[in-house]
Amino acid sequence: MIKYLRSILFFLMIGFNLQVVAQEYHFVPQPESVSFSGDAFVLDKNTKVVVPKKFQGLLISYLAEKFYSDLGLNLTYSYRNPAIDEKHILFKLDKSLSVKDEGYLLEVQAASIVVTAKDYGGLFNGFQTLRQTFPLENSGTVNVPGMTVKDSPRFGWRGIMLDVSRHFQPKEFILKHIDVLSSYKVNKFHWHLTDDQGWRIEIKKYPNLTEKGAWRADRVGISWWQREEATAEEPKTVGGFYTQEDIKEVIAYAKVRNVEIIPEIDVPGHSKALVASYPHLFCYDEADANFEVAVGGKAPDNAVCAGKDTTYEFLEGVIEEIAALFPSKYLHIGGDECNKSNWKKCPYCQGVKTENNLKDEEELQSHFIQRVHKIVKAQKKTMIGWDEILSGQGAPGATIMAWRRGTYTPEITAPKEGYPTIMTSYKHMYISQVQGPTFMEPEGPKVVLPLSKVYAHEPLPPELTPEEANRVLGNEACLWGEFTPTQDHCEYMLYPRALASAEVSWSDPKVKDWKRFQTAMEASHFKRLEREQVNYAKSLFTVYASYALDELESEAHVYLSTETVGYDIFYTTTGEDPTTASIKYEGDFIAAPKTLIKAGLFNKEGSLLGKLTEIRLK
Ligand code: ACM
Ligand code: ZN
Repeated sequence: MIKYLRSILFFLMIGFNLQVVAQEYHFVPQPESVSFSGDAFVLDKNTKVVVPKKFQGLLISYLAEKFYSDLGLNLTYSYRNPAIDEKHILFKLDKSLSVKDEGYLLEVQAASIVVTAKDYGGLFNGFQTLRQTFPLENSGTVNVPGMTVKDSPRFGWRGIMLDVSRHFQPKEFILKHIDVLSSYKVNKFHWHLTDDQGWRIEIKKYPNLTEKGAWRADRVGISWWQREEATAEEPKTVGGFYTQEDIKEVIAYAKVRNVEIIPEIDVPGHSKALVASYPHLFCYDEADANFEVAVGGKAPDNAVCAGKDTTYEFLEGVIEEIAALFPSKYLHIGGDECNKSNWKKCPYCQGVKTENNLKDEEELQSHFIQRVHKIVKAQKKTMIGWDEILSGQGAPGATIMAWRRGTYTPEITAPKEGYPTIMTSYKHMYISQVQGPTFMEPEGPKVVLPLSKVYAHEPLPPELTPEEANRVLGNEACLWGEFTPTQDHCEYMLYPRALASAEVSWSDPKVKDWKRFQTAMEASHFKRLEREQVNYAKSLFTVYASYALDELESEAHVYLSTETVGYDIFYTTTGEDPTTASIKYEGDFIAAPKTLIKAGLFNKEGSLLGKLTEIRLK
């Protein structure tokens, strides 16, 4: 009987343990399957870490850095198998493991932790899941919960794009975010290196690109859209660029973190910095043409000439150096938003049009893209272009970034026409858009893209057959830089929306759950980001307020809402700051005109989560 009672007690305890364990860990992105055993592995300074010999150079210094920075632990690292009685963490390759590329099996038992994968990426990603079980304090000894995690990425392309042309960000910033993003299993960093407002990569054959093209006249403090063009005489003091040595350092750092760097050189449009550096690439030598790097706004006259052979010879020189520098098989050539008005007037462009029987400038763009494509292919690279490159004759063999979803349908046409396609829907993944009520957010495009909308995005359109869906390589969030001059502001726009995009790109839709994700942000990941000194946004906790004025009755109906689930809104109408002792919002209420409403979102512990929203009724 006693024995029987003991086993009931034992099961109750396990059940209890399981519950506690399941609630304590907040994995992002959510793995395919996680099961807890109730055991624990005691991770302390006596733990030995074993990695495959072929990856010791890549992995050991990274693991040592993270065990030290996360937990203050200096462990022993080796590629030699542990002795039977040695407590160990084993990273093991097994080509026959039934996971996708970059997937992993993580098994935590009392005596060992084993991460098994088919490739380097899988070992790296398995370690990231393990890290998310570590406490936030630098604690020395950790009880890692006994568990089995089997996990595979939904997509092989899990990208983040950063525009460093509109505002240059230093190498250290890029390194910091490759480190943070890779811990969320992001594996592609798309580096938008050139645009109208600055050329950011050293090309040894063409020094003007960075001597002139990387610098612009100072318009700091003036709204991006109201900046007057630069003159030739003005000093050019705003900008910066990466040397080829910088780029090599970033590539090596990213490789350790399972991140591939994809360079983008944006042509034939968005090329004002390029034509300012080498004006002979412009369509004609107009005496009064402005050949200065753009300072903001939209730059007119920013296309390279599509008719001159010198344009292609020049681009060949650029592409050769880029191809030699970046190990990625991809090279992004832009191709978006080309203003073709000069092409219509240019004798060279018109000459090529006639010679090749091109019916309009769209076909001339296609001709340009195809010539550039040949140059890229000669370097044994796969060309990526924004979805505009589908127009005219298209670019068979290229990979498409489908950004204009919602206005056009590139997310359907590109894969249907046989193109490998990366989803970068501007309505869901352009995280340069503001993420809360515009009057409470820093300046940005006046479109709101809240965290929940990024999280809810489904990259695969239902119109695709399974075969067409297989052409979808993945998903990418893009941070355009017009409104983000500072590192703090870039971080604020990136986080937490880059984490939502990471989960969209990694997790099977079956395991996605907004309530879990937003709770994970509050309970764990915001603190993890703080530890990495990341200036993340808490805008998901902002209360949205609106009202309808009933002039006849002299009263207003006030509506409050939140994108979160499971938190409570409290408000006041007296001008005082709300607390959980104030009125709890249960539905729309009536207030007198001119009332000042203050509202905030509170968690179960009674803490205010975000900023207070204040509106004065008319
Ligand atoms: C783009 O947003 N012009 C690709
Ligand atoms: Zn031309």
